[in-house]
Amino acid sequence: MSTTPAATPACRLPAPIRLGVNIDHVGTLRQARGTDYPDPVEAALLAAAAGADGITLHLREDRRHIQDHDLERLLPRSPVPVNLELAATPEMLAIACRLKPPHACLVPERREERTTEGGLDVVAGRRAIAQACARLSDAGVAVALFVDPDPRQIEAALACGAPQVEINTGRYAEALTAAAQGERLAEVAAFARAARAAGLEVHAGHGLNLDNVGPVAALPEVVELNIGHSIVARALYVGLPAAVAEMRRAMAEARAAVPA
Ligand code: PXP
Repeated sequence: MSTTPAATPACRLPAPIRLGVNIDHVGTLRQARGTDYPDPVEAALLAAAAGADGITLHLREDRRHIQDHDLERLLPRSPVPVNLELAATPEMLAIACRLKPPHACLVPERREERTTEGGLDVVAGRRAIAQACARLSDAGVAVALFVDPDPRQIEAALACGAPQVEINTGRYAEALTAAAQGERLAEVAAFARAARAAGLEVHAGHGLNLDNVGPVAALPEVVELNIGHSIVARALYVGLPAAVAEMRRAMAEARAAVPA
């Protein structure tokens, strides 16, 4: 009989998951009337006080919600890291390199779209995206690439020097049947595993709400979710701090249920 003590099973709890609250649609409401309220910066401070781990905002070319002064006012005041979503255009890269948010996420952008409609095609846009990643990294900004859960994007993201990817969960969120949603989730899960195994930090977001966040939050490779529209919409009924707290709770409960 072996005298070696029985090996205790390794305890491999998944890494904690962070919530980045996207405040764009506070800006949407303000811009609808051209007022100076509601203020996305005040909303960001409330969200942080309510447990947001980070604040995300998208400075779009058409400035339909977030304005340059929002980013300028938020950066020195935010108690949690700020994540700037931006298209890899000369204008936006110049702003990001000047203001140096700690995090940035490169997204595709089309003027006529209602919201970001799909991930970046890093394979097709490799050269320009690699240059953008290099400029941001040189400015000290940690870069994520927003991509669809298509395995070809992993190698391209690595080749561009991006340390992080954010998986577009839009197709999962928009699936009309449970079967379709299961298929889309399987794609997200497989992509998350492969991206993590390749050394990328994995985030996810788009279209997530209290009803569909659980299965994504339960993916152990995913360490950050960026969620905006559903939190801001829910805040109309329960207030922003409660809406943030509810989402944090839903994520934490899903994460706690992951087998070690
Ligand atoms: N992640 C990215 C890259 C996005 O572009 C958006 C929308 O701005 C989100 C997350 C948040 O999506 P939603 O507002 O649907 O929660």
